[in-house]
Amino acid sequence: MHTYDVDLYADDTILEPYGHYRAIRDLGPAVFLPKHDLWCLARYEEVRAALREYNTFSSAQGVAANDVINTQSLGNTITTDPPEHNKMRRVIKGPLAAPALAPIAPAIEEEAERLVDRLMRQKSFDGITECAQHLPVTIVSKIVGLPEGGRANMLRWASATFDALGTMNERGREALPHIQELHRYCTDEDTLAGLSSDGWAAAIWRAADDGRVPHWKCPAMMRDYVSPSLDTTILATGSLLWLFGRFPEQWEMVRSDESLIAGAINEAIRLESPIRGFTRVSTRELSYDDEAIPSGARFLLLYASANRDERKWRDPETFDVKRDARDHLGFGFGPHVCVGMHLAKLEITALVKAFARRVGRFELGEPRRATNNVLRGFARLPITVH
Ligand code: HEM
Repeated sequence: MHTYDVDLYADDTILEPYGHYRAIRDLGPAVFLPKHDLWCLARYEEVRAALREYNTFSSAQGVAANDVINTQSLGNTITTDPPEHNKMRRVIKGPLAAPALAPIAPAIEEEAERLVDRLMRQKSFDGITECAQHLPVTIVSKIVGLPEGGRANMLRWASATFDALGTMNERGREALPHIQELHRYCTDEDTLAGLSSDGWAAAIWRAADDGRVPHWKCPAMMRDYVSPSLDTTILATGSLLWLFGRFPEQWEMVRSDESLIAGAINEAIRLESPIRGFTRVSTRELSYDDEAIPSGARFLLLYASANRDERKWRDPETFDVKRDARDHLGFGFGPHVCVGMHLAKLEITALVKAFARRVGRFELGEPRRATNNVLRGFARLPITVH
């Protein structure tokens, strides 16, 4: 049996994960992590195949690396298998599909222009709190249509949700009260009465009134617009700006050719995947390298490692905006592939375009990484623009 004895959720591993990911990949196609009682798939081919074979790798027993959340979160979109999953996904995907987003694109672009004008006047700013957070927090919270109290707390609830999806360490335990608060908020009568009628959250309840999903699932589906939509996009934006700062020649290429922006975003999400991985449970016995793994085993699918697998990518550690990185697994793959990726790309593209017209070079100060059980990126990212 291939085993690797690491705590993937300890501070030092979270801050420096890539050496561990490579060691796991090199050990074999499936590696047992005794500290977490998890089987880990870290190579590209195996992770992609597992995401495709959803009948064998089920999400319906939770996608976290701990039992507390896995027993509480059942019935969410992300923790439901097809065919039930298809019904929920169809409803939440409505406003997030690329054509449905076209009408809100101009408002996002205008907001990005206003933001970047302001940052250019400041000249020095924090790339996370003053820049990357702005569009997700202002635009997204408004179009979801939650009453004010919810909008003020969204960031805290969102990052707690990801902390709780890792192992139940101190970070995971500290996240639990915040998640319970989010749950109470999404089921509270005042919240439901205060939803804006033209917002995405209200549309979920109308879908339930039409019989497309059961009413009891609506609070969990409202959370689909809150928990996964903020930090993911914010951290991806921060990592992209950091990479542009570290590799000015890559920024120069993007700045002089806007058609490279889409590829640069994919490349940043490949290289610095905001979500390191989620879990699945096997529904039959599996065999890797002649090692039989019984049905019912929990597997950690490490998207962030697959995205740096040297078996798949040439020079995987190089940031190359001209690389064709479209088949990275940073948004997942298969039936649960990120339903919000068009919105995330729209927000990040608007920001990069606004910078491209004004900034010749991003000068980086000393950044501070966020320590979250599942997410990767920066908590602070000082930038001066030239
Ligand atoms: C750069 C930004 C983003 C990244 C890197 C990201 C990443 C991911 C990944 C890896 C998954 C797959 C989960 C799995 O395999 O079980 C996923 C699913 C999901 N994402 Fe995103 N996401 C981003 C932005 C967003 C946004 C903006 C929203 C909402 C507006 C969103 C909502 C969701 C939802 C609801 C799911 C579950 C889909 C399902 O189970 O069918 N995400 N995301």
